[in-house]
Amino acid sequence: MSYLKETDPEIYDAILKETDRQSTKLELIASENFVSEAVLEAMGGVMTNKYAEGYPGKRYYGGCEYVDIAEDLARDRLKQLFDCEHANVQPHSGSQANMAAYFTMLKPGDKVMGLDLACGGHLTHGHPINFSGFLFDFTGYVVDKETEQVDYDELLKQAKEVRPKLIVSGASAYPRALNFEKIRAICDEVGAYMMVDIAHIAGLVAAELHPSPIPYADFVTSTTHKTLRGPRGGIVMCKEKYAADLDRMVMPGIQGGPLMHVIAAKAVAFKEALTDEFKVYQKRIVDNAHAMANALMEKGHKLVSDGTDTHLMLISFIDVPKVTGKKVEKALDKAGITANKNTVPFDPEKPFVTSGVRLGTPAVTTRGMDPDEMRTIADFIDRAIANRRKDEVLEGIAGEVADLCKKFPLYAERQG
Ligand SMILES: Cc1ncc(COP(=O)(O)O)c(C=O)c1O
Repeated sequence: MSYLKETDPEIYDAILKETDRQSTKLELIASENFVSEAVLEAMGGVMTNKYAEGYPGKRYYGGCEYVDIAEDLARDRLKQLFDCEHANVQPHSGSQANMAAYFTMLKPGDKVMGLDLACGGHLTHGHPINFSGFLFDFTGYVVDKETEQVDYDELLKQAKEVRPKLIVSGASAYPRALNFEKIRAICDEVGAYMMVDIAHIAGLVAAELHPSPIPYADFVTSTTHKTLRGPRGGIVMCKEKYAADLDRMVMPGIQGGPLMHVIAAKAVAFKEALTDEFKVYQKRIVDNAHAMANALMEKGHKLVSDGTDTHLMLISFIDVPKVTGKKVEKALDKAGITANKNTVPFDPEKPFVTSGVRLGTPAVTTRGMDPDEMRTIADFIDRAIANRRKDEVLEGIAGEVADLCKKFPLYAERQG
């Protein structure tokens, strides 16, 4: 950091303040995490300088012998981690991983089914304001009104009517485990490809805490930066029969030079994810989510689907007069808790208002917190919601949050 302090004090200062924000507040955004120092080191290294269009051993540029080592290690470790036939580690993001998978299977205008955004789906699963919605003829499927979970009989019925070429599953805000065997059977019955986006649950799948889609799906996409705890980025895994088409679609189809420093950092994260410690860590994420969910429900909050099987949960305010996700997000922020407003199934509010907040435990678990702290955090949340218009109460909670955070230091040597 000393170089940056000299040459660009404004950016240096912004990074320092962000480091301080991450360490003094409670990070409950379900899609975020804190990477290891080793991942940060690889990401900040000289591999950022290298152009390496192509794949290991077949590049368009010279001088790729060392970045080839990084990409080979990333691919091999990813294949070992998920036991998949083929892996591409070049997508710059989760969205580009999805784009690459779609373009490998589909032509513009093809029919696709994906989980509706309000029920937990992602923008890239067919939302009209996203490339997926511009280019393909998406039909959304919804969760059951009672259980707020995917109803596989309904999905089959709808798929028989729509006759999609592809069914996408996986989600951004769905707290329950998915049944990939059933989804495969539905795809087979209607002759559709099966793609699963495990961006959120990748770490859980790697640790065998959530069923793996790999044996069933034609394509599995993911981000690397959520439960998986790697650098920001995307990956695609597929059966060997699609490997050449997928690789051609990633590069030159939709991307140019791969981000080799990020690929090196992905390799580091995958090595970390192959350890027994990682399995223990993922189990702690899930145990923490259960503890937080139970504590919130005991305090009378309604959770979507009445609980969680994963690392995330959604509090629903659909039946609470005058409370919205937007208001709660703001109150939590004042109380030192970072979370995001989120639509809940059949939400009457607009996406910028919403009737829910999404909470996740990966980042607080990385800091070392356990179920006792989750119950304390649930109490902070409960009090912040009840006192959402009382700034002095929210400031008091922020003080308690800061005290709790001090007991679980983060990036201590990077502080100012
Ligand atoms: C299920 C899912 N897929 C894809 C993405 C997109 O990833 P990125 O933000 O890296 O483009 C996300 C991000 O939140 C996600 O939750």
